[in-house]
Amino acid sequence: MSGDARVIRIGILGSGKGSNCAAILDACAAGKIAGKVVLVLSDVADAFILERARQKGIEARFIGPSQFKTKLEPEREEQVARQLTEAGVELVVLAGYMRVVKAPLLRAFPGRIINIHPSLLPSFPGLRAWEQALRYGVRITGVTVHFVDEGVDSGPIILQSAVPVFPNDTPESLHARIQVTEHQLYPEAVRLFAAGKLRVAGRTVKVLE
Ligand code: GRF
Repeated sequence: MSGDARVIRIGILGSGKGSNCAAILDACAAGKIAGKVVLVLSDVADAFILERARQKGIEARFIGPSQFKTKLEPEREEQVARQLTEAGVELVVLAGYMRVVKAPLLRAFPGRIINIHPSLLPSFPGLRAWEQALRYGVRITGVTVHFVDEGVDSGPIILQSAVPVFPNDTPESLHARIQVTEHQLYPEAVRLFAAGKLRVAGRTVKVLE
């Protein structure tokens, strides 16, 4: 990347251990992504994703308590949108964020929110997709990075990668294998977005390279 290349400002939302966040931070630090993570937010006060970000000197904040489990109150989500906007964020990356994104955030960042899901969508949307895959008995599952719309794991697909399911897999072993692929695919999708290489036409995302 050349020194005067434009660098986009990235905000990350997560609820858990933040290994995808770490992969994106590393790719930015290595100059693989023309982007900079400026803010990490979590709906879980003691989520390790916040700790990871702070260790790298990145501003990291707890969103605040919420009465719901699967979404934020509209006022709370407005606050999240405001914090991201005030930080100058241009791309919102959901990295293990366990709530459904609603209108306040979608309106503030149209076409600028992406998510990673641990299956080959549209198979196995929703929670614990690797367990769903094991229960169903598929031989191949995978990873999907997609734009976020008002549905659950339903937006236009940016990248997908397959992961094999082995006969002796446990939920833990399969999820661990899926995560190895996630840590390659998510930084690559963010790189493409930051480089202006993604064009959305209806449900289809064209990658310009
Ligand atoms: C990943 O498997 C991701 O696909 C799913 O939640 C998990 C988050 O893991 N949405 P981490 O917090 O990034 O380690």
